[in-house]
Amino acid sequence: MRLSLRRGLRILLVTAMVGFVLLNLHVLYNTPDSTSSDRSKTTGSLSQNGGTDTHVQYTTGQSSATPKLSLLITPKPANSSSNSTVNAKQRYHRNITVNDTEALKYEIARINAEQYVHNLDKFGLSLGSQSLVIVIQTHDRPEYLKILLDSLRKVKDVEKSLLIVSHDVYSSQLNELIEAIDYCPVMQIFFPFSQQIYSTEFPGQHANDCPRNAKKDEALASKCNNAEHPDKYGHYREAKYCQAKHHWIWKLQHIFEGLHLLKDYEGNVMLLEDDYYLSEDIIFSTHMLRGLKERECPECRMLVLGNYDKNQNYAINGAKVERAFWISSKHNMGMTFNKSVWLEIKKCSDDFCTFDDYNWDWTLQHLSMKCIPDKIKLLVMKASRIFHVGECGMHKKSKNCDPDSVVKQVEARLTENRQHLYPNLVSLAGDSRFKLRDPKPNGGWGDIRDHNLCKQYLNGSRTR
Ligand SMILES: *[C@@H]1O[C@H](CO)[C@@H](O)[C@H](O)[C@H]1NC(C)=O
Ligand SMILES: *[C@@H]1O[C@H](CO)[C@@H](O)[C@H](O)[C@H]1NC(C)=O
Ligand SMILES: *[C@@H]1O[C@H](CO)[C@@H](O)[C@H](O)[C@H]1NC(C)=O
Ligand SMILES: *[C@@H]1O[C@H](CO)[C@@H](O)[C@H](O)[C@H]1NC(C)=O
Ligand SMILES: *[C@@H]1O[C@H](CO)[C@@H](O)[C@H](O)[C@H]1NC(C)=O
Ligand SMILES: *[C@@H]1O[C@H](CO)[C@@H](O)[C@H](O)[C@H]1NC(C)=O
Repeated sequence: MRLSLRRGLRILLVTAMVGFVLLNLHVLYNTPDSTSSDRSKTTGSLSQNGGTDTHVQYTTGQSSATPKLSLLITPKPANSSSNSTVNAKQRYHRNITVNDTEALKYEIARINAEQYVHNLDKFGLSLGSQSLVIVIQTHDRPEYLKILLDSLRKVKDVEKSLLIVSHDVYSSQLNELIEAIDYCPVMQIFFPFSQQIYSTEFPGQHANDCPRNAKKDEALASKCNNAEHPDKYGHYREAKYCQAKHHWIWKLQHIFEGLHLLKDYEGNVMLLEDDYYLSEDIIFSTHMLRGLKERECPECRMLVLGNYDKNQNYAINGAKVERAFWISSKHNMGMTFNKSVWLEIKKCSDDFCTFDDYNWDWTLQHLSMKCIPDKIKLLVMKASRIFHVGECGMHKKSKNCDPDSVVKQVEARLTENRQHLYPNLVSLAGDSRFKLRDPKPNGGWGDIRDHNLCKQYLNGSRTR
């Protein structure tokens, strides 16, 4: 039998086309919709939503074809006689006066223990190895938090993620912003050693703390607190600069090891700060990056969704990814990693707690250079999916800089580049050639009380 040339070509063409389609299907990321095929595991129950039980399933087994699930909570159909808006309000608006520090301490301990999730009845929650938990660390800038939350509302697939907001200030204004979230499950956690609670004692500022610029001999003579331990530049502790580093590491510990819902969670956690603006394809891009990491960089520990480049070219870089070692000034925006990476960071917690720098990111770079085996390697999007809106508020206060106009610029740029978002294939475009070094500590973290507090909550010997 003789195959005509034409017929042969046609078969070749059809095969190529089918192959192309299959490949495309393959690179489309797997949303964890496949949950339904992975049911019937052990069943537990969790009290949520004003005493009515939400059904919870914890998985015990693993099936190779579908993503491994650690948790499945099904949404509940709306029930007109139970009003969840009202229930949420009752839970989070106990009308405590925030200057009553005992009441505040008690309330925060209650919230951290209860671990209530808003909107669970509406969206349910299904968490597995391919899910994303999004964490926002926020201080007291509700105007920025609102910008971030408004951008998050537009993010594709946000309803499938769990959002965790980590606070170090309790305020009804912030709580109201969280309660207004109606697009995904959300949980609030509160840093229990905040200066709001400890306003007149360590870790807040104590009346007898040594002044920043006191000379050591004067300090010793005056017997002020911690006279023995100025930082490496001879300055004494300033409470207001120490909180963010404590909050950063406490939050990771609490999320990876303290939350019941995430007890068996092996998927990724993305870290955000309250003054970011997100591109609507950030979750989609994270899934694409995760796939690329599996194929091209299994030794990478992190995915990074944002960068600070002044010129963002989506047409050229929208689907490009760079491989690099972690550098604080470049890779601290939208860091995404899982529990195994947290445990590696935690192994270095003594270093973290004692490195004389009040910045968590410089400290982490030091860990990467000096403690974590083989350094932290990562993949970072070359076209940023995160914009740092708060930059103008923090460092260039004198300039007339309005966050809303920054947001308008960012939105305009993203709209112009719409067709370059949602890349259906991301690729490695090379390695960063940025020079690595162990950062010189900036000081501000010489006080042994900070070192001990940090070690105490990390080793579990102090919880409040
Ligand atoms: C609606 O909620 C009320 C109170 O929580 C409960 O008694 C009732 O059975 C629920 N109805 C349905 C249809 O689920
Ligand atoms: C729940 O209560 C709030 C406040 O009373 C009200 O605005 C809202 O319409 C109620 N929702 C339902 C579904 O009854
Ligand atoms: C909260 O309590 C204060 C005093 O205890 C009272 O004046 C205020 O009206 C209360 N606010 C609300 C919203 O209940
Ligand atoms: C809280 O502050 C208010 C007004 O500033 C004051 O009247 C009240 O006494 C304070 N309460 C406590 C417990 O300090
Ligand atoms: C967690 O991250 C580590 C380091 O990147 C990786 O080796 C491991 O496979 C990841 N675990 C899961 C469940 O994806
Ligand atoms: C935890 O760390 C503190 C501070 O270094 C130390 O005093 C304490 O003994 C440690 N506790 C445990 C249980 O390891």
